[in-house]
Amino acid sequence: MTVQKILWHPDPHLKKKCKLIGSVDDATRTLADDLLATMYDAPGVGLAAPQIGAIQRMFVMDCTAKEDDAHAMVLINPEIVWTSDDTNVYNEGCLSLPEQYADVERPAEVRVQYLDRDGREIEEQFDGLWATCAQHEIDHLNGKLFIDHISGLKRTMFTRKMMKMKKERNRDE
Ligand code: NI
Repeated sequence: MTVQKILWHPDPHLKKKCKLIGSVDDATRTLADDLLATMYDAPGVGLAAPQIGAIQRMFVMDCTAKEDDAHAMVLINPEIVWTSDDTNVYNEGCLSLPEQYADVERPAEVRVQYLDRDGREIEEQFDGLWATCAQHEIDHLNGKLFIDHISGLKRTMFTRKMMKMKKERNRDE
């Protein structure tokens, strides 16, 4: 398990449509372990592979905000197969946009098909923060950030702030 550097917006890796993972093997599980280590280290409740520069369809999440990883989830090739008509508004943040938050409205419940770290096919329904997090992370796999859900004016403001922060903290490479 290696804590990796989290890429900060704006970064071309965060704009890419990620590739399907052909088979779940040891390399896939190493990526999952690195994502989990990096997410818990941050700390955060979710992290997608492109955020550490891996353009692959995988994310991890744990919305319990506990120190242990008993509820750590690894979702490979996730696909939303159903969304509720009810919506929820959460004040979202993102490890690729530290200290930036905005209200985003999304379906309150989603059903997701995915492969787990052993390659088993799973279909699971999420609600509450788990539903928001799953949708936020799946967006990452399609090159989309939470700021793409808000007005263009606000998005430009967030991007400017991030460019400044990257420069100040020497993350501008
Ligand atoms: Ni994010």
